[in-house]
Amino acid sequence: MSFSRLALASFLLLGCINLQAEGRNAALLASSCAACHGTKGHSVGGTPSLAGLDRLYFIEQMRLFQTGERPATVMMQHALGYSEEEIRLMADYFAAQK
Ligand code: HEC
Repeated sequence: MSFSRLALASFLLLGCINLQAEGRNAALLASSCAACHGTKGHSVGGTPSLAGLDRLYFIEQMRLFQTGERPATVMMQHALGYSEEEIRLMADYFAAQK
């Protein structure tokens, strides 16, 4: 096998592994929101549900919490620990919940 074929094969393989890891990470990230926003974002209390939220709306709200532009009781602290990449993963995850 030529070097470029080997490189292509390992690239494709790593791509698959990455995709699987992203799915797991998203669920793991989202589980730390479950205490307040319910399992998979289905809130049962007074907290807003995250399930089915538009992903762009979600990303924007997290950014507003981070900068303090959207006043919040607890979400400013909760939004702070997440990177853009993690917020994108969670946005996809919650948007995909029915
Ligand atoms: C301690 C409870 C708590 C936890 C944990 C928590 N939230 Fe929240 N969240 C709230 C509350 C309360 C609000 C309403 C705004 C406010 O007062 O902070 C809110 C609002 C939101 C909103 C805005 C919803 C809307 O309809 O505008 C988003 C998005 C959100 N949270 C995402 C998350 C994510 C993602 C996590 C996990 C990383 C998380 N929250 C963890 C309590 C929590």
